Amino acid sequence: MRTQSSNLSKPYSRTVKLTACAVGVAALLAAGVARSAEVEVLHYWTSGGEAKSAQVLKQMLDEKGDTWKDFAVAGGGGGNAMTALKTRVIAGNPPAAAQIKGPAIQEWGDEGVLVSIDDVAKHEGWDKLIPPQISSIMKYKGQYVAAPVNVHRVNWLWINADALKKVSAQPPATWDEFFKTADALQKAGIIPVAIGGQSWQEAETFETVALGVGGAAFYKKAFVQLDPATLKGPTMVKALETFKKIKAYTDKGQTGRDWNMATGMVITGKAAMQFMGDWAKGEFSVANKVPGKDYLCVPGPGSQNAYTFNVDSFAFFKVKSPDVQKGQKDLASLLLSPKFQEIFNLNKGSIPVRQGMDLSKFDACAHRSAADFTSSQARGTLVPSWAHDMVDTPAVEGAFYDVIGNYWSDDNETAQEAADKLAVAARTR
Ligand code: BGC
Repeated sequence: MRTQSSNLSKPYSRTVKLTACAVGVAALLAAGVARSAEVEVLHYWTSGGEAKSAQVLKQMLDEKGDTWKDFAVAGGGGGNAMTALKTRVIAGNPPAAAQIKGPAIQEWGDEGVLVSIDDVAKHEGWDKLIPPQISSIMKYKGQYVAAPVNVHRVNWLWINADALKKVSAQPPATWDEFFKTADALQKAGIIPVAIGGQSWQEAETFETVALGVGGAAFYKKAFVQLDPATLKGPTMVKALETFKKIKAYTDKGQTGRDWNMATGMVITGKAAMQFMGDWAKGEFSVANKVPGKDYLCVPGPGSQNAYTFNVDSFAFFKVKSPDVQKGQKDLASLLLSPKFQEIFNLNKGSIPVRQGMDLSKFDACAHRSAADFTSSQARGTLVPSWAHDMVDTPAVEGAFYDVIGNYWSDDNETAQEAADKLAVAARTR
């Protein structure tokens, strides 16, 4: 064989190889062997830690023989990505999959543009792998149309360990302790709280404050049941006042700042604390910072016994190409696989949504998150994050964002006025 081929002229040899290759491909196709599909995926994971996590997904899909086509739209919280998605779906050209969460999945289902991936889910037993509070969000009319990838905890406070040492303080467990520590930090010339002036970041901070001030029962009544009396009642007023009090401990340069820039301020010690979901941990990890040593993760003051969850998921859109349809199923199956769940969540800062996973490679923050998820579930204090799309329709959520954002920036508005506006915003449909 070797002698014969070495005697062949180069062009002839190439022709033979190409022909053999074409015959091979035709035979594979005839035998029904999978072809490679280009799977376009919309997401908004563009910060350092997020991009590293998206890379894991891309690489593992490519390893399956499909090709990842990146449709990344920058903008924390995903507002810009959702606008881009609408444009594409209205034009009749949706991506194969898009990062969509919570009730928005139902809204897209009502539009008739999502496709069922129930066969993959049944084959792999997803109902047994995913907690029921989460699997119900992924289904439209009883069939899976989306696959979850993680569980993010939102009610965290991230703290620069050195900054805290400088003022000889312990991580604050109550609001009194929090403001005392903030005073000491300010005196020491450290910005006590890093925040980005974007409405979703203000909303998220307020969400954590409200949970800490009012507790899980209040939170559910106000933000899940949208009870008007609770939305404008005295506990909400107290939560709004506490939230506004934080403003005096933030810096003037916050307008438009991205969340990961605010995390960067805590990483470098320019600021001491940030209220943010545990995607912030992805940024600390990229900067090679170690939890417990360089930084601390503690639940927001007063919210130790509760857990605000935010689950990222990918919904699948109706597409014509059979190759892409196959690629969608490959992606769906990949998302819940133990290997992906481990590597992706180690990078993303979240914990696996797949139950029964070995967490030995995860850090102390992830272990605390997993333990608190379970205990909050048992206690009835596991609550969905409204600031991260898990509760309301996008219309109600947007109206809440506006109320909270305006109240944060307008120093003349009273807490009662803002609370009254929340009750009105809840009626937005
Ligand atoms: C998403 C996270 C993301 C964060 C910042 C949240 O709504 O669930 O995956 O990292 O926004 O963009």
